[in-house]
Amino acid sequence: MNNEKRFYITTPIYYVNDIPHIGHAYTTTACDTISRYKRMKGYDVFFLTGTDEHGQKIQAAAEAKGETPQQLVDRIHQTFRDLCKLLNASNDDFIRTTEDRHIRAVQAIFSKLIEKGDIYKGTYSGYYCVPDETYVPENAMGPNKTCPDCGRPLTIMEEESYFFRASKYVPQLIEYYETHLKAVMPETRYNEIMSFLKGGVRDQSVSRTTLKWGIPVPGDEKHVIYVWFDALVNYVTAAGYLDDPEKFARWWPHVRHMVGKDIIRFHCVTWPLLLIAMGVNVPVEIFAHGWWTVDGEKMSKTRKNVVDPFKIVKEYGLDPFRYFMMREVPFGNDGDFSELALVGRINSDLANDLGNLLNRTHRMIQSYRGGVVPKCTDAKSELSAMSVNVLERVDRAMNDYAFDEALKTIWEFIGRANKFIDETMPWKLAKDESQAERLDFVLLNLYEALRLSAMLVAPVMPETSQRIWKQLGIQEDPTKSQYDAFTWGDGAGMTLGESEVLFPRIDIEEWKKSKEEKKLQEEAAAQAAIEHEEEISIDAFKTVEMRVARITKCEEIPKSKKLYKLEVDLGYEKRTVCSGIKAFFTPEELEGRTIILVTNLKPVKLCGVESNGMILCASVKKDGVSEQLTLLTPEDKDIPLGSRVS
Ligand code: ME8
Ligand code: MG
Repeated sequence: MNNEKRFYITTPIYYVNDIPHIGHAYTTTACDTISRYKRMKGYDVFFLTGTDEHGQKIQAAAEAKGETPQQLVDRIHQTFRDLCKLLNASNDDFIRTTEDRHIRAVQAIFSKLIEKGDIYKGTYSGYYCVPDETYVPENAMGPNKTCPDCGRPLTIMEEESYFFRASKYVPQLIEYYETHLKAVMPETRYNEIMSFLKGGVRDQSVSRTTLKWGIPVPGDEKHVIYVWFDALVNYVTAAGYLDDPEKFARWWPHVRHMVGKDIIRFHCVTWPLLLIAMGVNVPVEIFAHGWWTVDGEKMSKTRKNVVDPFKIVKEYGLDPFRYFMMREVPFGNDGDFSELALVGRINSDLANDLGNLLNRTHRMIQSYRGGVVPKCTDAKSELSAMSVNVLERVDRAMNDYAFDEALKTIWEFIGRANKFIDETMPWKLAKDESQAERLDFVLLNLYEALRLSAMLVAPVMPETSQRIWKQLGIQEDPTKSQYDAFTWGDGAGMTLGESEVLFPRIDIEEWKKSKEEKKLQEEAAAQAAIEHEEEISIDAFKTVEMRVARITKCEEIPKSKKLYKLEVDLGYEKRTVCSGIKAFFTPEELEGRTIILVTNLKPVKLCGVESNGMILCASVKKDGVSEQLTLLTPEDKDIPLGSRVS
């Protein structure tokens, strides 16, 4: 195969500290779409995806689950493999960073760069975001020394560290980008990266001593290789960097990375600088797409708004989901995920435009020509002329990763074909024997428009394109066919397959109703899931003595993070009570408050202080996670202290 016609495309390798959501499905689907498109354009394609399995977050997630990190990554990485299968992804490899082939490649590269003097030992100190595993430069910190990405407080960290001499190669990278304007896409990201590079890049810390779960620095095992160094290397590992130089020479010069805009600096700055140091070419193209939000908010576990691709596919089918993701938002921009918008696309674009063209054409060929596609002497028409232009425009769009643009162009063509039916009115032609040739011409053109449309949608909706060709009576697999081999008119003489509804319309009103019902059911289920105590008798309840009291003084207990020492006044006596509410109130908020006290609890000693009672609070979960407390207080603040509560 021609050396130029090779295409190596990668997704980010996804962290296994979390389960897959539509963000991951998005990148994988986009890479699958471009892979399938390029294959149909005659390219030899290598499509890589995989999982990022080392690092602090994974260690922490494993601890939280009571598993070893290895158990956790084995379990969760499988859900990302399942996601590939769910999405019908045509990936050629799936890499895990815990695999031996990868660990050896990472260590080999690390050693090579130490030998070259491009990695050296030093001390690092700086502001660090533990959850994000990244140092934050002082000029990039958020208010009150918080992480600009996640908003959480930063901690000062100082450690012995290996450094990558990134600064050394910055001029070379700038020069490369200056002459390769599409090396970073879209253009806004290119500009962002160029101005970042021109602002200067410091040498980068590439090891940690604070971490266990990772790849050890060869010969200095107290250090673990920084998870981003480890992760980025996956792209060369899978291309055969260490074990298969021939394979590497075959694919690496053609590498393209697709990523979300969240990780653009690692891919467009750190990684190319490392590649230059390694003495291999930098990526041909890096495309950074935008973010999906849900109802305008960033998806997050705490907001409980993470959209599960497995659920969506189960409810609406795979191809509509793939179509929606690729069509709804200009690739590169942010977009909002809404099921209502998805249903809208299914009804208008899929059921109406594409589905109707197929139904009408199938029915007419069936009834007017006994299910055999008519021949005609010259099949050239406005549709065939348009198809040439459509193929070119789609190709241009696909080369720019403008999936939405490509689909818009295809739907213009589908729309034109539907209009062609209305204009030529085959049902009239069918009634007039002298128009038989004209009818042949019209039906053949419609058939060809469909045969080509099915090929054009194949990269985005592979199953659908197969279903269309089957109905058109074509045995071949459209996803394995070649655009360049398509010749308008070749479909003449084919016998149709059986007709079937491609996409049933969804009744919006019914859909809304069933969504409402489902929501109510879910809420009821959540209510039922609340744990209740066993029933008790009124006599048992009466044994609890509760009285109105006032907090007169609140002091910290130095040894305790949770407890306050409170002086409370019951009117008839004063008591000392320890209460674990320090995280929720300041002493000023408590002093002077009228509260309800359980007065007949057995005294206990807490952090060296004897506690004689318990203050009542109600607890609520905000965002479903963080706990909030509110003090129980009598409505009438002047009620005599010591009054009994029953
Ligand atoms: O960053 N919208 O892994 P990750 C669109 N392991 N895309 C989204 C998204 C959203 N809301 N959320 C996630 C990592 N993505 C590292 C990568 S690569 C050497 C190491 C997609 O699991 C998008 O592609 O956090 C984003 O870049 C990626 O998932 C981040 O996945
Ligand atoms: Mg992330």
